[in-house]
Amino acid sequence: MSEAFLEVRELTGGYGATDILHAVNLALRSDEIVSIIGPNGAGKSTLLKAIAGLVTIRLGSVFFEGTEVTGMRPDRLVRRGLCYVPQEANVFPRLSVRENLEMGAFMLPGDPAAQIERMGELFPPLREKWKQAAGTLSGGQRQMVAIARALMVEPRVLLLDEPSAGLSPRYTEEIFERVVAIHETGVGILMVEQRARRALEMSHRGYILAMGRNRHEDTGPALLADPNVAEMFLGG
Ligand SMILES: Nc1ncnc2c1ncn2[C@@H]1O[C@H](COP(=O)(O)OP(=O)(O)OP(=O)(O)O)[C@@H](O)[C@H]1O
Ligand SMILES: [Mg+2]
Repeated sequence: MSEAFLEVRELTGGYGATDILHAVNLALRSDEIVSIIGPNGAGKSTLLKAIAGLVTIRLGSVFFEGTEVTGMRPDRLVRRGLCYVPQEANVFPRLSVRENLEMGAFMLPGDPAAQIERMGELFPPLREKWKQAAGTLSGGQRQMVAIARALMVEPRVLLLDEPSAGLSPRYTEEIFERVVAIHETGVGILMVEQRARRALEMSHRGYILAMGRNRHEDTGPALLADPNVAEMFLGG
Protein backbone atom coordinates (compact mmCIF):
# COMPACT_ATOMS: atom_id res chain seq x y z
CA MET A 1 0.00 0.00 0.00
CA SER A 2 1.33 3.45 -0.86
CA GLU A 3 1.75 6.17 1.74
CA ALA A 4 -0.93 8.71 2.51
CA PHE A 5 -0.60 11.41 -0.09
CA LEU A 6 -3.34 13.62 1.27
CA GLU A 7 -3.33 14.02 5.00
CA VAL A 8 -5.38 16.19 7.33
CA ARG A 9 -3.93 16.52 10.83
CA GLU A 10 -5.85 17.83 13.81
CA LEU A 11 -7.70 20.35 11.70
CA THR A 12 -9.75 22.99 13.51
CA GLY A 13 -11.51 25.76 11.65
CA GLY A 14 -14.68 27.03 10.05
CA TYR A 15 -16.32 30.26 9.04
CA GLY A 16 -15.04 33.48 10.58
CA ALA A 17 -14.71 33.05 14.33
CA THR A 18 -16.93 29.96 14.47
CA ASP A 19 -15.12 26.66 14.41
CA ILE A 20 -17.06 23.90 12.67
CA LEU A 21 -14.28 21.31 12.52
CA HIS A 22 -12.58 20.20 15.72
CA ALA A 23 -9.20 18.46 15.47
CA VAL A 24 -10.22 16.36 12.47
CA ASN A 25 -7.83 13.75 11.11
CA LEU A 26 -8.05 12.07 7.73
CA ALA A 27 -5.77 10.38 5.22
CA LEU A 28 -6.11 9.33 1.61
CA ARG A 29 -3.67 7.18 -0.35
CA SER A 30 -3.28 7.71 -4.06
CA ASP A 31 -4.86 4.34 -4.84
CA GLU A 32 -7.96 4.79 -2.69
CA ILE A 33 -11.57 5.82 -2.83
CA VAL A 34 -12.44 7.17 0.62
CA SER A 35 -15.90 8.33 1.69
CA ILE A 36 -16.87 10.79 4.39
CA ILE A 37 -20.34 10.20 5.76
CA GLY A 38 -22.32 11.64 8.65
CA PRO A 39 -25.48 13.53 9.52
CA ASN A 40 -26.56 16.82 7.96
CA GLY A 41 -24.54 19.68 9.35
CA ALA A 42 -21.73 17.40 10.57
CA GLY A 43 -19.14 19.49 8.72
CA LYS A 44 -18.51 17.17 5.77
CA SER A 45 -18.67 19.92 3.15
CA THR A 46 -16.67 22.20 5.43
CA LEU A 47 -13.94 19.57 5.65
CA LEU A 48 -13.65 19.32 1.86
CA LYS A 49 -13.66 23.11 1.62
CA ALA A 50 -10.93 23.31 4.26
CA ILE A 51 -8.75 20.93 2.23
CA ALA A 52 -9.51 22.93 -0.92
CA GLY A 53 -8.38 26.20 0.67
CA LEU A 54 -11.86 27.72 0.99
CA VAL A 55 -12.46 28.07 4.73
CA THR A 56 -10.45 29.44 7.63
CA ILE A 57 -8.12 26.93 9.21
CA ARG A 58 -7.28 27.94 12.76
CA LEU A 59 -5.25 24.97 13.92
CA GLY A 60 -3.83 21.86 12.35
CA SER A 61 -2.49 21.17 8.89
CA VAL A 62 -3.06 19.66 5.47
CA PHE A 63 -0.29 17.82 3.62
CA PHE A 64 -0.41 16.90 -0.05
CA GLU A 65 2.31 14.74 -1.57
CA GLY A 66 4.62 15.49 1.31
CA THR A 67 4.22 19.27 1.17
CA GLU A 68 2.25 21.33 3.65
CA VAL A 69 -0.57 23.05 1.76
CA THR A 70 -2.60 24.32 4.73
CA GLY A 71 -4.73 27.27 3.62
CA MET A 72 -3.13 27.36 0.18
CA ARG A 73 -5.18 29.21 -2.43
CA PRO A 74 -7.51 26.99 -4.48
CA ASP A 75 -5.88 27.84 -7.82
CA ARG A 76 -2.47 26.85 -6.48
CA LEU A 77 -3.90 23.57 -5.18
CA VAL A 78 -5.40 22.89 -8.60
CA ARG A 79 -1.96 23.43 -10.17
CA ARG A 80 -0.61 20.84 -7.75
CA GLY A 81 -3.27 18.38 -8.85
CA LEU A 82 -5.87 18.69 -6.12
CA CYS A 83 -9.30 19.51 -7.53
CA TYR A 84 -12.56 20.10 -5.70
CA VAL A 85 -16.10 19.70 -7.07
CA PRO A 86 -18.57 21.53 -4.78
CA GLN A 87 -21.97 20.24 -3.72
CA GLU A 88 -23.87 23.02 -5.49
CA ALA A 89 -23.40 25.63 -8.21
CA ASN A 90 -20.60 23.60 -9.75
CA VAL A 91 -21.06 24.54 -13.42
CA PHE A 92 -21.30 27.85 -15.29
CA PRO A 93 -24.96 27.54 -16.35
CA ARG A 94 -24.85 30.04 -19.23
CA LEU A 95 -21.72 28.60 -20.77
CA SER A 96 -21.84 25.61 -23.08
CA VAL A 97 -20.57 22.23 -22.01
CA ARG A 98 -17.43 22.74 -24.10
CA GLU A 99 -16.86 26.21 -22.63
CA ASN A 100 -17.24 24.81 -19.12
CA LEU A 101 -14.52 22.28 -19.86
CA GLU A 102 -12.33 24.96 -21.44
CA MET A 103 -12.70 26.99 -18.23
CA GLY A 104 -11.45 23.99 -16.33
CA ALA A 105 -8.34 23.97 -18.49
CA PHE A 106 -7.67 27.71 -18.53
CA MET A 107 -4.39 27.34 -16.67
CA LEU A 108 -3.06 24.62 -18.94
CA PRO A 109 -0.74 25.49 -21.80
CA GLY A 110 -1.87 24.52 -25.27
CA ASP A 111 -5.11 23.37 -26.81
CA PRO A 112 -7.49 21.48 -24.52
CA ALA A 113 -9.18 19.72 -27.47
CA ALA A 114 -7.62 16.32 -26.84
CA GLN A 115 -8.53 16.41 -23.16
CA ILE A 116 -12.11 17.46 -24.03
CA GLU A 117 -12.22 14.48 -26.38
CA ARG A 118 -11.17 12.23 -23.49
CA MET A 119 -13.97 13.66 -21.35
CA GLY A 120 -16.43 12.70 -24.09
CA GLU A 121 -15.16 9.13 -23.87
CA LEU A 122 -15.49 9.11 -20.09
CA PHE A 123 -18.94 10.74 -20.14
CA PRO A 124 -20.68 9.63 -23.36
CA PRO A 125 -23.93 11.55 -22.60
CA LEU A 126 -21.96 14.80 -22.95
CA ARG A 127 -20.84 14.01 -26.47
CA GLU A 128 -24.01 15.26 -28.16
CA LYS A 129 -24.20 18.28 -25.87
CA TRP A 130 -20.97 20.20 -26.44
CA LYS A 131 -22.78 23.35 -27.58
CA GLN A 132 -25.68 23.19 -25.13
CA ALA A 133 -25.74 25.60 -22.17
CA ALA A 134 -24.79 23.64 -19.04
CA GLY A 135 -27.74 25.14 -17.16
CA THR A 136 -30.17 23.39 -19.51
CA LEU A 137 -28.79 19.89 -18.87
CA SER A 138 -30.33 17.29 -16.58
CA GLY A 139 -28.96 17.11 -13.05
CA GLY A 140 -26.91 14.02 -13.83
CA GLN A 141 -25.43 15.53 -16.96
CA ARG A 142 -24.62 18.74 -15.07
CA GLN A 143 -22.80 16.68 -12.47
CA MET A 144 -20.83 15.03 -15.28
CA VAL A 145 -19.83 18.47 -16.58
CA ALA A 146 -18.72 19.53 -13.10
CA ILE A 147 -16.56 16.42 -12.68
CA ALA A 148 -15.23 16.61 -16.24
CA ARG A 149 -14.27 20.25 -15.69
CA ALA A 150 -12.24 19.27 -12.63
CA LEU A 151 -10.61 16.45 -14.60
CA MET A 152 -9.41 18.80 -17.35
CA VAL A 153 -6.18 19.49 -15.46
CA GLU A 154 -5.55 15.75 -14.91
CA PRO A 155 -5.62 15.97 -11.12
CA ARG A 156 -4.00 13.45 -8.79
CA VAL A 157 -6.86 13.70 -6.32
CA LEU A 158 -10.49 14.66 -6.69
CA LEU A 159 -12.61 15.96 -3.82
CA LEU A 160 -16.27 15.27 -4.60
CA ASP A 161 -19.05 16.74 -2.47
CA GLU A 162 -22.22 14.65 -2.85
CA PRO A 163 -21.89 13.76 -6.52
CA SER A 164 -25.28 12.01 -6.37
CA ALA A 165 -27.18 14.92 -4.76
CA GLY A 166 -30.60 15.36 -6.32
CA LEU A 167 -30.07 12.60 -8.89
CA SER A 168 -32.43 9.78 -9.78
CA PRO A 169 -31.28 6.25 -8.85
CA ARG A 170 -30.31 5.61 -12.46
CA TYR A 171 -28.13 8.70 -12.72
CA THR A 172 -26.71 8.04 -9.27
CA GLU A 173 -25.48 4.65 -10.47
CA GLU A 174 -24.08 6.18 -13.63
CA ILE A 175 -22.18 8.83 -11.68
CA PHE A 176 -20.80 6.26 -9.22
CA GLU A 177 -19.68 4.06 -12.12
CA ARG A 178 -17.88 7.06 -13.59
CA VAL A 179 -16.22 7.77 -10.24
CA VAL A 180 -14.90 4.20 -10.17
CA ALA A 181 -13.69 4.59 -13.77
CA ILE A 182 -11.89 7.83 -12.86
CA HIS A 183 -10.28 6.09 -9.90
CA GLU A 184 -9.09 3.33 -12.24
CA THR A 185 -7.17 5.93 -14.26
CA GLY A 186 -5.06 6.58 -11.14
CA VAL A 187 -6.92 9.42 -9.42
CA GLY A 188 -7.40 9.31 -5.63
CA ILE A 189 -11.01 10.03 -4.66
CA LEU A 190 -12.19 11.68 -1.46
CA MET A 191 -15.96 11.81 -1.56
CA VAL A 192 -18.75 13.07 0.69
CA GLU A 193 -21.98 11.16 0.18
CA GLN A 194 -25.48 11.18 1.58
CA ARG A 195 -26.12 7.78 -0.02
CA ALA A 196 -23.82 6.36 2.59
CA ARG A 197 -24.40 2.66 2.10
CA ARG A 198 -23.83 2.83 -1.65
CA ALA A 199 -20.78 5.06 -1.19
CA LEU A 200 -19.19 2.67 1.31
CA GLU A 201 -19.77 -0.27 -1.04
CA MET A 202 -17.41 1.34 -3.53
CA SER A 203 -14.95 2.77 -0.98
CA HIS A 204 -11.76 1.28 0.36
CA ARG A 205 -12.23 3.18 3.60
CA GLY A 206 -14.70 5.52 5.20
CA TYR A 207 -14.79 8.21 7.86
CA ILE A 208 -17.83 9.07 9.91
CA LEU A 209 -17.95 12.69 10.93
CA ALA A 210 -20.38 13.95 13.59
CA MET A 211 -20.59 17.45 15.04
CA GLY A 212 -17.34 18.43 13.38
CA ARG A 213 -15.35 15.58 14.92
CA ASN A 214 -14.03 12.20 13.83
CA ARG A 215 -16.53 9.68 15.06
CA HIS A 216 -15.41 6.44 13.48
CA GLU A 217 -13.24 5.15 10.66
CA ASP A 218 -12.69 1.77 9.09
CA THR A 219 -12.63 -0.08 5.80
CA GLY A 220 -15.76 0.20 3.69
CA PRO A 221 -16.81 -3.43 4.31
CA ALA A 222 -16.19 -3.15 8.08
CA LEU A 223 -18.32 -0.01 8.37
CA LEU A 224 -21.10 -1.68 6.39
CA ALA A 225 -20.97 -4.73 8.64
CA ASP A 226 -21.00 -2.79 11.92
CA PRO A 227 -24.54 -2.90 13.38
CA ASN A 228 -24.02 0.29 15.41
CA VAL A 229 -22.82 2.18 12.37
CA ALA A 230 -25.73 0.80 10.35
CA GLU A 231 -28.27 1.86 12.92
CA MET A 232 -26.87 5.32 13.57
CA PHE A 233 -25.51 6.40 10.20
CA LEU A 234 -26.79 4.14 7.43
CA GLY A 235 -30.50 4.21 8.19
CA GLY A 236 -30.60 0.76 9.86
N1 LIG B 1 -20.78 29.65 4.64
C1 LIG B 1 -21.08 29.35 5.90
N2 LIG B 1 -21.05 30.28 6.87
C2 LIG B 1 -21.34 29.97 8.16
N3 LIG B 1 -21.65 28.74 8.58
C3 LIG B 1 -21.71 27.77 7.67
C4 LIG B 1 -21.42 28.01 6.28
N4 LIG B 1 -21.55 26.85 5.61
C5 LIG B 1 -21.90 25.92 6.53
N5 LIG B 1 -21.98 26.47 7.76
C6 LIG B 1 -22.30 25.75 9.00
O1 LIG B 1 -21.34 24.75 9.23
C7 LIG B 1 -21.93 23.57 9.76
C8 LIG B 1 -21.52 22.38 8.93
O2 LIG B 1 -22.02 22.56 7.61
P1 LIG B 1 -21.58 21.63 6.40
O3 LIG B 1 -22.18 22.22 5.19
O4 LIG B 1 -20.12 21.44 6.43
O5 LIG B 1 -22.30 20.25 6.81
P2 LIG B 1 -22.48 18.92 5.97
O6 LIG B 1 -22.00 17.81 6.84
O7 LIG B 1 -21.88 19.07 4.63
O8 LIG B 1 -24.07 18.82 5.87
P3 LIG B 1 -25.02 18.29 4.66
O9 LIG B 1 -25.06 16.80 4.82
O10 LIG B 1 -26.34 18.90 4.99
O11 LIG B 1 -24.46 18.75 3.36
C9 LIG B 1 -23.43 23.83 9.80
O12 LIG B 1 -23.78 24.17 11.12
C10 LIG B 1 -23.62 25.01 8.88
O13 LIG B 1 -24.70 25.82 9.31
MG1 LIG C 1 -22.64 19.11 2.72
